[in-house]
Amino acid sequence: MKKIGVLTSGGDSPGMNPAIRAVVRKAIYHNLEVFGVYGGYTGLISGNIKKLELGSVGDIIHRGGTMLQSARCPEFKTVEGQQKGIEQLKAHGIEGLVVIGGDGSYMGARALTQHGYPCVGVPGTIDNDIPGTELTIGFDTALNTVIDALDKIRDTATSHERTFVIEVMGRDAGDIALWAGLAGGAETILIPEENYDMNDIAARLLKGKERGKKHSIIVVAEGVCSGVEFAKQLQESTNFDTRVSVLGHIQRGGSPTAADRVLASRLGARAVELLIEGKGGRAVGIEKNQLVDYDIIEALQKKHTLDLDLFKLSKELSI
Ligand code: F6P
Repeated sequence: MKKIGVLTSGGDSPGMNPAIRAVVRKAIYHNLEVFGVYGGYTGLISGNIKKLELGSVGDIIHRGGTMLQSARCPEFKTVEGQQKGIEQLKAHGIEGLVVIGGDGSYMGARALTQHGYPCVGVPGTIDNDIPGTELTIGFDTALNTVIDALDKIRDTATSHERTFVIEVMGRDAGDIALWAGLAGGAETILIPEENYDMNDIAARLLKGKERGKKHSIIVVAEGVCSGVEFAKQLQESTNFDTRVSVLGHIQRGGSPTAADRVLASRLGARAVELLIEGKGGRAVGIEKNQLVDYDIIEALQKKHTLDLDLFKLSKELSI
């Protein structure tokens, strides 16, 4: 393999830049040429492809977002779109592609693989919902953003003796809510993977108030319901002075944490190694701090599982 490409796709995540940097530098280290595909699969279809040099990825390791831009591309879900993409890659002489992104991006990479084009998926999403890895690039940074917000909200919640419902991202997965809720000391965490009982929540909040608690923080994963909807239900069950905060896209931005930069560097470099070894159709990940890789088709058939022990612990610690 002499020429490889790299693209970022789907919702961006902090750490995509260090991952791109790792792909480019590792490839050049091994005397490969590297091409950046700009604008995700949309840019692939239209041929928005430029050669990247060592200096192209200088000064990006600490920046959020993605220097290659990203997009959600419905056209790439069609066979025609996928074939146009392959034609563009072949026209540039690109023999393998590293795709950095979430589940939608992986599906694009799987489609390319099924058409016989070598692709390696690198898990980049704040949601931490990709099968075949315990952690995704951007999750740690998003968690730190959420706990920073939780700590600030806790200050004002205490001053006014209020209950706060904080809605966080995560699509259908509860990982952001669970980890941030645990790290931020939330009284209640709602995740899509587990049902909740409003009477039980109301009773626990009342108990806390009776023993002098000055605030209550409830973290709701967007996959459960909207924060506004939950606050309405809560208000109907209690007479607590409740406010809602929807953290939204601030969770997707910001300088990547050290953990995300290191993870991105390891996974990006491993993806290049796999292409060099002639192993396309793989998805890289990390398990027990070791790099792993799986067949991308099999990886997508697996289901992401949330750590239910952590959920149990969060309940035990928030009595
Ligand atoms: O997958 C990342 C994510 O931020 C999800 O947590 C969220 O549901 C979604 O993307 C939001 O997508 P968009 O930026 O397209 O509104």
